[in-house]
Amino acid sequence: MKILIINGPNLNLLGEREPEVYGKQTFNDYFTSLQFKLREVELSHFQSNHEGKIIDKLHEARLHFDGVVLNAAAYTHTSVAIADAVKAINIPVVEVHISNTSARENFRKHSYIAPYASGVITGFGMKSYELAVLSFVELPEKND
Ligand code: DQA
Repeated sequence: MKILIINGPNLNLLGEREPEVYGKQTFNDYFTSLQFKLREVELSHFQSNHEGKIIDKLHEARLHFDGVVLNAAAYTHTSVAIADAVKAINIPVVEVHISNTSARENFRKHSYIAPYASGVITGFGMKSYELAVLSFVELPEKND
């Protein structure tokens, strides 16, 4: 099974950005440990601070991956274009957030993407990514 993790804006700064909210680990360190832990899954990672590049990657992913784990970061709350891309592609997308967006500012409570995601995992720190990948492994019928 091939899964692509897409991270949106500012998530390249994980480890140094608001560590009290997002933790102290870099995504690269986390990703290496995740690949080791879930060896049965072929994991890839892409990060961009640019909306259009995230959309291009979603389009490309539909040809090469079984599913996408998407943390669109702030674009979650603003981007109709990314939501449309998630709706347009024929592979399942699980929306992920490190922090519990429902417990933060009001503007973080709405997701344009969630209606088109096969599920949403939010608030479990970096572990949210692992739970999202496991949803593909353990609930394949959900993502048919
Ligand atoms: C985030 C939550 C978003 O509201 C925020 O803009 C982010 C990260 C999270 O993973 O908790 O950049 O997606």
